[in-house]
Amino acid sequence: MDRSIKIAPSILSADFANFGQEIRAIEDQGCDWVHVDVMDGHFVPNLTFGPPAVAAFRPHVKTVMDVHLMIAPVDQYIEAYAKAGADVISAHLEATTHPHRTLQAIRNTGAKAGLALNPGTGIGDIEYLLDLIDIFVVMTVNPGFGGQKFIHSQIEKVKNLRAMIGDRPIHIEIDGGITTETAPLMAAAGADVLVAGSAVFNGGTVDTPEIYGANIKAIRDAAEAAR
Ligand code: DX5
Ligand code: ZN
Repeated sequence: MDRSIKIAPSILSADFANFGQEIRAIEDQGCDWVHVDVMDGHFVPNLTFGPPAVAAFRPHVKTVMDVHLMIAPVDQYIEAYAKAGADVISAHLEATTHPHRTLQAIRNTGAKAGLALNPGTGIGDIEYLLDLIDIFVVMTVNPGFGGQKFIHSQIEKVKNLRAMIGDRPIHIEIDGGITTETAPLMAAAGADVLVAGSAVFNGGTVDTPEIYGANIKAIRDAAEAAR
């Protein structure tokens, strides 16, 4: 499997009146995946994209559309986000009573299955889920908002997760507070997918996409140097 560093800009930090152009700009500038943060105003204190919005992003995404569901309940919406064109669907462990069933439901749609863990959640209960998981999403902020501060205690979690995964073909994605300072810490701990919202979009616009490109490259270079 591909364990190279992959940069996944979160369009939560993009211009909300201009998603098509923003997605094309980050892809032209070399991002690997496009991260879509779905929030319900219930599991997290913020509201973002329903399935029709995600379906509208789909034709613009040429790479991988990585949909992070911060919603509870989650099971009844999986099908709709799959139909909207998600390549990866991640659900939170904290948002489902039956994570085994939730992960199976994601895989049944044909999407890759992700399990997201809040900063306060340990990895003691995931052993019997490993065969159903394509990607772990380790939250390094409490979910709900972009631009928050990286929580350093999650470095140890990622190291332990990496050891638990062993040879299984499972990605580790880090979400929240990724910058050129924190990306190397997580690359060294064993992560391969780095979500970055503010660190990619801040300072640029669709008229100055080279700023996005420089930001993506700086995060990638810092992470690769730590491997
Ligand atoms: C947080 C979201 C993140 C967030 C990342 O709830 O899941 O994807 O947008 O934003 P930054 O990189 O600004 O922390
Ligand atoms: Zn996210």
